[in-house]
Amino acid sequence: MPLAINPILELPFTSFMPQASSNAQAEFLSHLEHGGILFLPNLGFEFAPSETRFLSPDWSDGQSKNIYLRGNNRTIKGAKGNVEELAAMSALIERYSSRATSLIAHLLPSYMPHAKLANSSLRCVEAAGRITSWRKDDRRLHADAFPSKPTAGTRILRVFTNVNPQNKPRVWNVGEPFADMAAKFLPKVPAYTPLQAKLINALGITKSLRGEYDHMMLHLHDLTKADAAYQANAPQMRVEFPANSSWVVYSDLVLHAVLSGQHMMEQTFHLPQESLTFSAASPKNILERLAKRAINC
Ligand SMILES: [Fe+2]
Repeated sequence: MPLAINPILELPFTSFMPQASSNAQAEFLSHLEHGGILFLPNLGFEFAPSETRFLSPDWSDGQSKNIYLRGNNRTIKGAKGNVEELAAMSALIERYSSRATSLIAHLLPSYMPHAKLANSSLRCVEAAGRITSWRKDDRRLHADAFPSKPTAGTRILRVFTNVNPQNKPRVWNVGEPFADMAAKFLPKVPAYTPLQAKLINALGITKSLRGEYDHMMLHLHDLTKADAAYQANAPQMRVEFPANSSWVVYSDLVLHAVLSGQHMMEQTFHLPQESLTFSAASPKNILERLAKRAINC
């Protein structure tokens, strides 16, 4: 079934320092916070000739799908190589991270006092071929939620750039609005119990205490991925992000399935609820409206 509204807003910019009017910036902000995608078809990320060697999946340590720098600890993870190679990979990812930060500063300047740098990644593994459990299978529609990392209501904003050297697109299906999905699945989410949250935190399953908001988000993630009929029949739209294009999205709000694609760079930002202009459109407020009560983070 097709989507009722096209979620893509196409922006013509060719620079990570795009000059936009304040009216245009306000439009970008509204589009993004209401579940749209900012798509920059002409914004690629340049590799130096000495860096193109890192477009091979062979640099992965085999444990992680990404080679990445954590938000707070910029030691390179997920890669193998000698000291010089790891330093060069790290510099490449750091350069992308600063470009992505510049992009957000220019498109969405009201976020800059609040945006916290999270993981910066180079992903060279083919998305279509990864063998995973259904829960980790990102080829199924889902909104992002992670079992071990409660967000406590902090939003997940992501900048992606397709850096495929063979001109292959990254292909997504984008699903229905979050509120429509949550209306179907929230009644199936089991009741939250603080005792269980304490237990799984004590066991080290979560890195911090999982509140009711993260409990709901994680169950919605799992319920949508596990429901074959929903995956087949839910409204969705195929979107191709060509090589040398970028896109910006709240991945905790926009239902997405990654069908195929290889070679991507990605920067995640964490944004507190207070930084939102249209907080009524956030997952937390949508869930509170559906539940008809406040939800603790
Ligand atoms: Fe995802």
